[in-house]
Amino acid sequence: MNEPHPPHRQDRQDRQDRQHTQEVPPAPERVVVALAAPERPYEVRVERGVLATVGEVLGERARVAVVSQRPVADHHARAVLERLGGRARLFLVDDGEGAKSLATVEDLCRGFVHHGLARSDAVVALGGGVVGDVAGFAAAVYHRGVDVVQCPTTLLAMVDAAIGGKTAVNLPEGKNLVGAFHQPLVVLADPDTLATLPAAEVRCGLGEVAKYACIAAAEGDRFGIAALVAARADDLRRGDPEVLTDVVRRAAAHKAAVVAADPRETRGRREVLNLGHTVGHALEAYGHFTRTHGEAVAIGLVFALELAAALGRIGAAEADAGRAVVAALGLPERLPPGEAPPAGELVELMRRDKKAAGGLTFVLPGPDGIGRVDDPPPEALAAAFTAVGVDVAGTGV
Ligand SMILES: NC(=O)c1ccc[n+]([C@@H]2O[C@H](COP(=O)([O-])OP(=O)(O)OC[C@H]3O[C@@H](n4cnc5c(N)ncnc54)[C@H](O)[C@@H]3O)[C@@H](O)[C@H]2O)c1
Repeated sequence: MNEPHPPHRQDRQDRQDRQHTQEVPPAPERVVVALAAPERPYEVRVERGVLATVGEVLGERARVAVVSQRPVADHHARAVLERLGGRARLFLVDDGEGAKSLATVEDLCRGFVHHGLARSDAVVALGGGVVGDVAGFAAAVYHRGVDVVQCPTTLLAMVDAAIGGKTAVNLPEGKNLVGAFHQPLVVLADPDTLATLPAAEVRCGLGEVAKYACIAAAEGDRFGIAALVAARADDLRRGDPEVLTDVVRRAAAHKAAVVAADPRETRGRREVLNLGHTVGHALEAYGHFTRTHGEAVAIGLVFALELAAALGRIGAAEADAGRAVVAALGLPERLPPGEAPPAGELVELMRRDKKAAGGLTFVLPGPDGIGRVDDPPPEALAAAFTAVGVDVAGTGV
């Protein structure tokens, strides 16, 4: 039986419950990525135990290829394979970014042929963003496109990667350079799978949750993510399955709305999701940075807010509120002393980003929501770098 909470924890719990019931709007019941023809709209089903419905979702298809990775498959593949019966075969890809390669796609596609996978059959991607990207791309090109069901098993993939149809593999020259838009048939996000996810990977996803909360703070909290994070940050950090389910549903609804407004990233709408990622990616690309993607994004968010404040786009109070979100989720607000790359190197890495086209491009909060800002003045950059612990002395920034 559970021990009763000590009084102070009970107080905090009561306060949180009150905030939760009074201020957090209900999560959307149904998340649909409302794409117009020729694309099909599809559902993102976020529900504990929803993986068990994979058999029904795939109906009468004769063959199914389930693509996964050992750490995921050890815990979650058996249930999926049992639901699919003898028509399914499991294909394991390696762990890590190295698995996102054309060689893996070739191996998978050759395996699909040997399994007898036809154009009317389907691929199931069971894993995090790496599995989703590589299996999604294989599904996009095999027989010129077969259906894919995305079953994300990391928090990052549930709130972001599995929704929106972007699939890609890496080249030695850079990340995600070969890919395709290939929308899934349906996304089955089962928060129960997060119980086996290593803590560092949960932090990766929390970085994206912080991003959605900061976007919501600037654009109106339509899906209640900022309110939920404010009320239940401790539970999110602890991995409470109900609160995780709630936040995934809201974040999925947010991503679905952005994708529906800009399905192929041509209308400038989808770039709001890059908030915090310009510096985040540069930190990750800087060789000596050993922290997770979530931590890089968290520092990138603080940088973006401070840059927006230095440019007069938002007030100091709004930047502080964003910092508070990052801190509440247990993520770093700045680089620890001695770990910061030189500002000049970060600027070089940001210029080389494939979305930057040689200049420096950020998406930043402002009076009209999140917007694109090109080549901000050096004084503003210097203020933002200093705020996240990057020394700008003598760099010309
Ligand atoms: N397509 C998109 O729109 C999009 C968006 C964001 C990121 N991405 C891509 O996503 C990738 C990162 O994805 P990620 O953060 O999910 O990491 P990941 O896919 O590498 O998974 C992290 C680790 O957790 C393991 N794992 C996954 N689920 C597990 C579970 N439930 N239990 C135990 N272990 C589990 C994996 O095997 C892996 O070792 C990057 O390649 C990135 O480019 C794609």
